Amino acid sequence: MAGLPRSDKELSLVATARRVLPGGSFGNLSSDIVIARGQAGRVWDVSGNEYVDFLLGSGPMFAGHAHPDVVAAVLAQIPLGVTFFANNEHGIRLAAAIVDAVPCAEKVRFTSTGTEADTYAMRVARAYRKRDKILKFEGGFHGMSEYSLQSMAPKRPGNFPQAAPDSPGIPRSVAGDMLIAPFNDADLAASIIRENRDDLAGVIVEPFQRLIPPQPGFLRALREVTAECGIPLIFDEIVTGFRFAFGGAQEYYGVIPDLCTLGKIVAGGFPLAAVAGRADIMRHFDRSEVGDDVLPQIGTLSGNPVASVAGLATLQVLSQPGVYERAFATGRTLMDGLSGMLRQAGLPAQVVGMPVLFDVMFVDGEVANYRDTLRQDSDALRRFNATLRENGVLKGDTKLYVSAAHTEADVAHTLAAMQAAVDAEVAFRRAQR
Ligand SMILES: Cc1ncc(COP(=O)(O)O)c(C=O)c1O
Repeated sequence: MAGLPRSDKELSLVATARRVLPGGSFGNLSSDIVIARGQAGRVWDVSGNEYVDFLLGSGPMFAGHAHPDVVAAVLAQIPLGVTFFANNEHGIRLAAAIVDAVPCAEKVRFTSTGTEADTYAMRVARAYRKRDKILKFEGGFHGMSEYSLQSMAPKRPGNFPQAAPDSPGIPRSVAGDMLIAPFNDADLAASIIRENRDDLAGVIVEPFQRLIPPQPGFLRALREVTAECGIPLIFDEIVTGFRFAFGGAQEYYGVIPDLCTLGKIVAGGFPLAAVAGRADIMRHFDRSEVGDDVLPQIGTLSGNPVASVAGLATLQVLSQPGVYERAFATGRTLMDGLSGMLRQAGLPAQVVGMPVLFDVMFVDGEVANYRDTLRQDSDALRRFNATLRENGVLKGDTKLYVSAAHTEADVAHTLAAMQAAVDAEVAFRRAQR
């Protein structure tokens, strides 16, 4: 494949990136594309190439890039000051909007990133339960803390519930404070939780794990066993919050956790995230409630007014009638179209996920948990992503995020690019024979 034209400016930026950034990147995306701007469901690179964008900034831009209402709100705030540390009106209003929208949210604490929100959610569960251990699911992603980077992507999965660190630099002792269960195996998870009920402080789960939907009854079973044992259930809704429904996955699946974490959409593309949940757990952040047992939680940019107005404006956009229906319909057309192409081509591949968040997996058979995903042909996915990019479609390495701003023209362009990627894969396999 010829490759897209790259300007001298982009090539020079790539060279500078290779000189000053480890691996020449921010660590996020495998491609060294340099993005210049975005508008609605499209982005342009520094060379001027245009893409239908399903990377969406890794998810925050569900309302579309540079939405005029979000831009106006941010531009109105900037001349009034961009950060105060003290309470500000917009952060207070955003917290109130979260309490109104998200079923489990009685109180809210802001952080700047999802990693921090997940870290504090686990810590406040420990403070509440006065126990140390947290159970997470194999393959579950909860940011980059020492606790979250346990059995997130093990190359050689071990025996449950033993945790294994995913990164160098993590003290060996941390694994001893984490328990690991398989996603979508309610019976095994429940038996690990019951066996360890005296040591467990909390259970954290992505209600929709990466791309894998929960099987019917799985989340409800987790809810029941954690309630029975008095152990806080934490939904990591950094991805699903305000995406699966205005009230997040807990509204969509009808299972209410004790705590949740939010990020991405809630800040409209700015650095803000949150822990939200039951008042009797969140009180551990409040010295007036728990005295010297208070859990300190201080962040220079927590509740930042620019991020808060961007979040509020985004939520306003998403609360208009028909927004979720439109995004889901767009995603459904793409999923169905791609599934049909894969079937037609006879490729051992399937489309996994939800209309607003899905991808192709080059694997046969059911994908219900992390171990099932290890069977996939990741080289085929890399080839697929590269052909899409050559044809003006940008996505994450393992995800397509669909926005409410994608148009019929975006869908038509994307389906043509998907067909080109399927055809290229068929041709590649034929040439290998
Ligand atoms: C489910 C989930 N939790 C936590 C995080 C971490 O959020 P952040 O990148 O803001 O630290 C992410 C990031 O993609 C995520 O997908």
